[in-house]
Amino acid sequence: MKVTVFGIGYVGLVQAAVMADFGHEVMCVDVDETRVENLKKGIIPIYEPGLTPLVESNYKEGRLHFTTDAKAGVEFGELQFIAVGTPPDEDGSADLKYVLAVARTVAQHMNGYKVVIDKSTVPVGTADKVNAAIGEVLKERGVDFDYAVVSNPEFLKEGAAVSDCMRPDRIVIGTDDEKARELVRELYAPFNRNHDRIIFMDVRSAELTKYAANCMLATKISFMNEMSNMAERLGADIEKVRQGIGSDARIGYHFIYPGCGYGGSCFPKDVQALVRTADSIGYDSELLKAVESVNYGQKEVLFNRVKKYYGDDLKGKTIALWGLSFKPNTDDMREASSRVLMERLWAEGAKVRAFDPEAMEEVQRIYGTREDLELVGTKDAALKGADCLVICTEWKVFRAANFEEIKSQISDPVIFDGRNLYEPEMVERYGLEYYGMGRGASIKLES
Ligand code: UDX
Repeated sequence: MKVTVFGIGYVGLVQAAVMADFGHEVMCVDVDETRVENLKKGIIPIYEPGLTPLVESNYKEGRLHFTTDAKAGVEFGELQFIAVGTPPDEDGSADLKYVLAVARTVAQHMNGYKVVIDKSTVPVGTADKVNAAIGEVLKERGVDFDYAVVSNPEFLKEGAAVSDCMRPDRIVIGTDDEKARELVRELYAPFNRNHDRIIFMDVRSAELTKYAANCMLATKISFMNEMSNMAERLGADIEKVRQGIGSDARIGYHFIYPGCGYGGSCFPKDVQALVRTADSIGYDSELLKAVESVNYGQKEVLFNRVKKYYGDDLKGKTIALWGLSFKPNTDDMREASSRVLMERLWAEGAKVRAFDPEAMEEVQRIYGTREDLELVGTKDAALKGADCLVICTEWKVFRAANFEEIKSQISDPVIFDGRNLYEPEMVERYGLEYYGMGRGASIKLES
């Protein structure tokens, strides 16, 4: 099938490359000329495992095209994906200006029946706005083409986006248009392994499904972080509690890992957006507000612990920091817990010597060159001459640590671990003090 994708960002590019890989012909449209030219040369704007070879091979084989020509894009595909950004505006609601601009562009050049598919994460009711925007432009043009607006939210995880997209556990399609339904069914037929992954529903339910999924996951994390804070004060080990509750199939092991707070481009933004949506319909979503505020507090826990350890005086201290990105296998620093930690440390006159396998360039871009931030090339280099070690992201390379080396390099033998990477007894055997989240010495500290 011929498909057009507007917006070659994270979601659009992954979706386009995977559809092309399954044999569809895909044209990607973006307003950013440099991005389009780079993609033609195989330069990919984001770090995502498996994406570069996928883009390269499908481009070379002629199934994936890149252009800034919106008219050509609209004329190309019967199916038109909208995958542009929906950044939060000042009050936390999703800003729809890019989505609606694409809707108008599609209408501007429409030359026959089109299915317009919302892939961007958009508030409930957006499909109606897209529908209206298209209708207005067609009226202005004095033409009358048939079209349908479909909601098809994405559920990709950064770092696993390509495989999530290729092997989705579900494909949610919101539409009440019979013709659109059949076209979208055909589009996604190659994605169905073993059994049908497509769940058809009405448009508003599809739109809400996306927010409900992310908010549920964020709720699980904030719940566990609250349990972790209570465990410390009650003298319990949250890791034991996690295993104890995860073994109940109704609860499950996924997304109940305590940590230093969730980050990324989705959870913080989507929880806030759904709170705003609730406000706009006069509903006070007490639970989601609490999810957000627990997470806000959780991002302060590591800093408060380091500060308490040093008797409130961090001036002149050098903190070795392992892990900067909001989670492993990405260079994404959006809403990363490490940012809160670093900014608090700097404000107290401490220095940070950090290592991250992917995110250091991004950190440099965000914070520029500053005296109190040193980015180094290895995890060992971060330890040299530091006072203590703090871990913010559970990169694989940190999982096996040389505790003797750590102890010999840092002047105060202490690790503050925001991701519970190690067994406290094992670390303590090396003469290191170990503060985990809801376990290790933190239990004694807070109880
Ligand atoms: C998330 C959803 O998983 C995905 O389905 C949706 O489409 C987009 O948002 P992503 O933001 O890439 O994906 O990251 P994810 O792996 O879900 O992690 C989000 C944050 O939660 C990270 O900061 C992670 O460290 C944290 N987290 C996750 C925990 O603190 N504990 C957990 O148990 C799981």
